[in-house]
Amino acid sequence: MAPTLPSSSWLLLLLLLLGATATAAAKGSKKLTPPAATAYEWPERYHAVVVSNQSNHRLQLIELYYDWPNGRDLNIVRDQLSGDPPLYNVEWANGTSYLFDAAASSCRTFHFPVGILPPDWIATAAYLGRDTVDGFECHVWSNFLFSRYYADVATGRPVRWIFHGNTRHVLVFEAGGVMEDSSKCQAPPYCFLNVVAAS
Ligand SMILES: *[C@@H]1O[C@H](CO)[C@@H](O)[C@H](O)[C@H]1NC(C)=O
Ligand SMILES: *[C@@H]1O[C@H](CO)[C@@H](O)[C@H](O)[C@H]1NC(C)=O
Repeated sequence: MAPTLPSSSWLLLLLLLLGATATAAAKGSKKLTPPAATAYEWPERYHAVVVSNQSNHRLQLIELYYDWPNGRDLNIVRDQLSGDPPLYNVEWANGTSYLFDAAASSCRTFHFPVGILPPDWIATAAYLGRDTVDGFECHVWSNFLFSRYYADVATGRPVRWIFHGNTRHVLVFEAGGVMEDSSKCQAPPYCFLNVVAAS
């Protein structure tokens, strides 16, 4: 007759297996140590060029001018193959946003309660560890705005961020970059007209 384990040994084996599983799970959820946030903060002003993969998979080429001292963020947005002049989107720190199309003289106003992110927003974001994206070894964070934000471990520059289902790949990032013609940041008069011409 083959030897059989007494039932207490089976119980011991089961407990050992459960213990090993629990240890493995604890290792996986080990508290991640974030890098020093200051190395990954944004400069007070920057110019960036990003390719945005929209939720419908079409691409946009966006030029960004972030200017914290003046409390604004300008986005110049070109849609893939549209041939249309770019759309201008100015977001202000008080939360008001103007989206205007100079060619069509059309303007839409939005209000976001949060305004624009401060340069040190990363200090309060959740650190998610490391990942390699677009060929760069990155630290990864998320916050209420970015479901993922990837910054180059080596230089601190952003490489990619995902926001409202759009994935933005950073092609150019210039600290201190300012817009030559800042009149583009001023929403045109037609953004402030409440009166619609009588039909
Ligand atoms: C855009 O995103 C979609 C969905 O993730 C992906 O299938 C597609 O390859 C992406 N396009 C580019 C140009 O990366
Ligand atoms: C926010 O600031 C912009 C630019 O100065 C201004 O046009 C807009 O009216 C302000 N919005 C509010 C709600 O005060």
